Amino acid sequence: MSYECITTRIEGDKVAVITLNRPKALNALNDQLMDELGAALKGFDADPAIGCIVLTGSEKAFAAGADITVMAKFSFADAYKGDFITRNWETIRSIRKPVIAAVSGFALGGGCELAMMCDFIIAADNAKFGQPEIKLGIIPGAGGTQRLPRAVGKAKAMDLALTGRMMDAAEAERAGLVSRVVPLDKLQDEALGAALQICAFSQIATMAAKEAVNRAFEGTLADGIMFERRLFHALFATTDQKEGMDAFVNKRAAHFTHQ
Ligand code: CAA
Repeated sequence: MSYECITTRIEGDKVAVITLNRPKALNALNDQLMDELGAALKGFDADPAIGCIVLTGSEKAFAAGADITVMAKFSFADAYKGDFITRNWETIRSIRKPVIAAVSGFALGGGCELAMMCDFIIAADNAKFGQPEIKLGIIPGAGGTQRLPRAVGKAKAMDLALTGRMMDAAEAERAGLVSRVVPLDKLQDEALGAALQICAFSQIATMAAKEAVNRAFEGTLADGIMFERRLFHALFATTDQKEGMDAFVNKRAAHFTHQ
């Protein structure tokens, strides 16, 4: 499939890399881009050869937010009846394979929200995160008011949402928004390395780990622990569990078949 607002490539026969590609608008997220991103994500999720997806942008911008030139013309009716955001931004939530955001440059507004929809964020040292919607007379609309406090706590989330200020990569790492910060020229290698590491494990186990960790953000602790326990028990029915443990006991490398 050919795309105009994103590019895709496969690395090491296993990792799908999706690059947001509207450089003139700092990867502002318009309908076409979000439709293409959704289609690419779904395609890679369904491809048995792919074990992990990396979502990235340019050195200058992961994404500078939803496309303001489009939103500037919106009425309430356009936003509400058109199901703005929900219609084509939520696909990423249904992706079952791990998705890593590799963020350099600006990740603002919807760009920060898109990164937060990924399973974890690896940031370059030039990354800047923020929810500047308040400056436009709106609030974050792609989950920012909910995911940011869960990631960084109420104090910092309120600070960012109410002042619209940006935080740099070091602050984002201290706050727990990003899992690692690396020099800009190492970002793609770092994300690819993490993705390849994930691909080497049992795909059933990595999907289960993702599902279980995501449960921590919905429902009670008791429900989450019960959900984890059931998945944990179920994994003893997989060939990969037998292989992984046999390999450890016999001091050899494991070869997972994703069964
Ligand atoms: N939408 C549309 N176009 C955008 C854009 C956006 N979100 N962000 C940047 N651009 C465009 C600029 O208009 C500019 O286009 P022209 O060259 O045609 O003028 C081009 O990208 C380059 O941008 P700048 O010249 O502004 O670059 P800069 O380096 O001086 O500044 C920036 C970079 C600080 C990121 C600045 O572009 C900026 O503040 N952008 C808007 C950020 C923002 O408010 N994002 C939130 C959007 S609302 C949202 O996302 C809602 C939601 O929750 C889903």
